[in-house]
Amino acid sequence: MSVQDRPRVLVTRRTFDEVLASLRERFDVDDNQGDVPLAPDELRRRAAACEGIITAVADPVTAALLDACPRLRIVANCAVGTNNVDIPACTERGIMLTNTPGVLDDTTADHAWALMFAAARRVVSSDRWLRDGHWKAWGFMDWHGVDVHHATLGVIGMGRIGQAIARRGAGFDMNVIYHNRNRLPAADEAACRASYRSMDALLGEADFVVVSVPYGPATHHLIGARELGLLKPTAVFINIARGGVVDDPALVALLKAGRIAAAGLDVFENEPALDPGFLGLENAVLTPHIASASRATRLGMAELAARNLTAALSGERPPSLVNAEVTPR
Ligand code: GLV
Repeated sequence: MSVQDRPRVLVTRRTFDEVLASLRERFDVDDNQGDVPLAPDELRRRAAACEGIITAVADPVTAALLDACPRLRIVANCAVGTNNVDIPACTERGIMLTNTPGVLDDTTADHAWALMFAAARRVVSSDRWLRDGHWKAWGFMDWHGVDVHHATLGVIGMGRIGQAIARRGAGFDMNVIYHNRNRLPAADEAACRASYRSMDALLGEADFVVVSVPYGPATHHLIGARELGLLKPTAVFINIARGGVVDDPALVALLKAGRIAAAGLDVFENEPALDPGFLGLENAVLTPHIASASRATRLGMAELAARNLTAALSGERPPSLVNAEVTPR
């Protein structure tokens, strides 16, 4: 295939040099190694001539974008979540959509646990206090937090990531409960040592509530003021799912009133423009949507997205096709 005939692809965000190099062996690649997020017009302009695009969580893949891309055959989202993509619009146009499941489960679960410990044991606020020069004398009655070990861990959403979070509970002698749209098969419950609860029962019983559900119309504000009101006063609330699953202003009000012990949050509605109420809260640990951000995992995600794109543009079925019902263009 001559250089001119090679399919054109766009990689919307900075990625690993080795992944770009392997894409360049087969494709005419437009990259964004400067890493300035592409505004919708710019994204549309640069995707217009492409047969494939590798997108990231903050790239809105809308029907209007797809209509501007008559040659497009695959959107390879470099994330497990696909809520940034209009999936029916892809399917209607014969465009394959892929994601990156599996490779990020353990790393994302680790981050949920990092937030659990950081929030429960006040790691970030005590660090900030120390650096600010407040440590004049050791205090027996200072910085009391809540115990993780032997507590009850409640996981809402028991997909692969939720199960990885739950499995880790055994290492800290936790009682693990879960809620999921569908109850898990007994063998999976046993592997996680987890017992099923209704959502309300879980919210009222768990010491640590971790939200790990995909975002979509069915889960928009799944955790609102009513649900948050069911939490124990000593509860620690963790969201590593997506902003939008939780009603953030309701959570801010709860934390401000000291109605629960703490929260650890990696995702926010309308991120990166999070509710400013979070910023003044000493009882909230906030991270900028980094749950999958170990080097090894981000490389694994980038490689899987590239494999998906390459397979689709070679006439093969990509390994992680989301819209399996699509009839490719
Ligand atoms: C990250 O949020 C992902 O969906 O992979």
